[in-house]
Amino acid sequence: MIVFRTKAELARFASETRRAGKVIGLVPTMGYLHAGHMSLVDTARSKADVVIVTLFVNPTQFGPNEDLDRYPRDFERDRKMCEEHGVDVLFAPEAAEMYAPGSSTWIEETDLARPLCGASRPGFYRGVTTVVGKLFHLAQPDFACFGLKDAQQCFVIERMVRDLDFQVKIVPCPLIRDADGLALSSRNRYLSADERSRALSIHKALLEGRRALEEQGTKDVSGICAKAAAAITAAGGRVDYVEALDRATLKAPTAETREVLLAAAAFFGTTRLIDNELVELEA
Ligand code: PAF
Repeated sequence: MIVFRTKAELARFASETRRAGKVIGLVPTMGYLHAGHMSLVDTARSKADVVIVTLFVNPTQFGPNEDLDRYPRDFERDRKMCEEHGVDVLFAPEAAEMYAPGSSTWIEETDLARPLCGASRPGFYRGVTTVVGKLFHLAQPDFACFGLKDAQQCFVIERMVRDLDFQVKIVPCPLIRDADGLALSSRNRYLSADERSRALSIHKALLEGRRALEEQGTKDVSGICAKAAAAITAAGGRVDYVEALDRATLKAPTAETREVLLAAAAFFGTTRLIDNELVELEA
């Protein structure tokens, strides 16, 4: 496995790889890898000649009072995990390498990025789409894998790719959970044992919501969301949102809605966790 620290090295490698007619699969991450990330890597490995993983805690997607400084980092551990999973290239730049001084150009998706995390974390998706767009330019992937734990992020990136004609296929990959149901996240390491066990209420509440949506359809989405929010609050969580939106539009469901994104964000202690269920409705 080769480790690149500069954009020039990655761009040169990607151009040579494409000239050789090889298929490039990209897995963008912020590091502190877990089984969820590795499932993306394994998917990329099964489809690509060359797998590139990027490891970059992207400052532009963190708000001023968020956890940029304490976001977990462990390069050696990540490097070993990538090597064990057959990654070809690990791209791990510093922020000063990634962004030119006085960088003032953004990529911003302005529709799907509005609700949910876009409403709670202003600037978050602008930071994500900007860095992912830059990574697409540098790594020139044929496809890129994104986890559905961040379902809205995945949909925003699909829209960016469509709107800006990036020649890359987005491969959405399943959300991976721990045995007890907690969605895997690098931020889970912030949780105390007590917070972690109380945080299981998010998944349980969403599963209840899924059952209700499957039985009743979308006639009472606000009741379903209120019930889920109450269950998370009762477990000691501070709910940021629980919403059920049309998966295609990320707006309130209508008679045309075929799939619902039931999504939640809640704080346990100071840790903000997100989770979701994608619910197909009967035609
Ligand atoms: O999902 C993430 O880890 C990040 O948002 C991403 C896509 C790597 C961009 O920094």
